[in-house]
Amino acid sequence: MISVAIDGPVGAGKSTVARECAKRLGFIYADTGALYRAIGLYAVRKGVESGAEDHAEKVSALLSEITVEIKLENGTQKVFLCGEDVSVEIRQPKISMEASAVSAIPAVRDFLLELQRNIAKENDVLMDGRDIGTVVLPSADVKIFITASPEIRARRRFEELVNKGVETDFDQVLADLNRRDWQDSHRAVAPLKMADDAVLLDTSELDFEQSVQAVIDLVREKV
Ligand code: DC
Repeated sequence: MISVAIDGPVGAGKSTVARECAKRLGFIYADTGALYRAIGLYAVRKGVESGAEDHAEKVSALLSEITVEIKLENGTQKVFLCGEDVSVEIRQPKISMEASAVSAIPAVRDFLLELQRNIAKENDVLMDGRDIGTVVLPSADVKIFITASPEIRARRRFEELVNKGVETDFDQVLADLNRRDWQDSHRAVAPLKMADDAVLLDTSELDFEQSVQAVIDLVREKV
């Protein structure tokens, strides 16, 4: 099995680029952020939100009630939370922030580790996240760290939300992105960090097709 680890900050284009590359390479695409989002959603539904003093304990206590699964339907990843398809609901901006908060809890990271590793055991996979090259798949065949400047990432995210009809404000998008990056890269366990053996791909000056091509070239060079 071939595994490609793609990590990077919010809005670097990881998921859109990785999804297209997986299609062209005939690999499956695994979006691991969706798993943290599902746990964030479950916690919110139970009234457990970030900022509370005992947030980590409360979220950890909920884990025994939770099942999270990823299923591929017509090549599209769907996420199931306790059997319910939550693929759309987990994309809300509020859940982005709650996902980032629950992802800092060690018990949550342990809870999702095997699930992610099992996907790579059974499939040629392009897996995207924050700690795939460093923790989840340290022996991945190819590791790519995708980034772009914060303003460009916020601009892309802003346009994506506007296209979806979500009313939003650019400065708010930039502030949320910076906050989430800070949280994701400063947590004690498995922070967002480029693996020593990863290739850095800065997409600030690249369009979508150029970014896809750059990733495919890196994969073909190595496998
Ligand atoms: O990729 P995303 O924006 O959907 O991820 C949501 C949050 O989940 C992100 O802010 C950090 C966390 N995450 C993580 O800690 N590790 C991963 N492998 C993927 C996501």
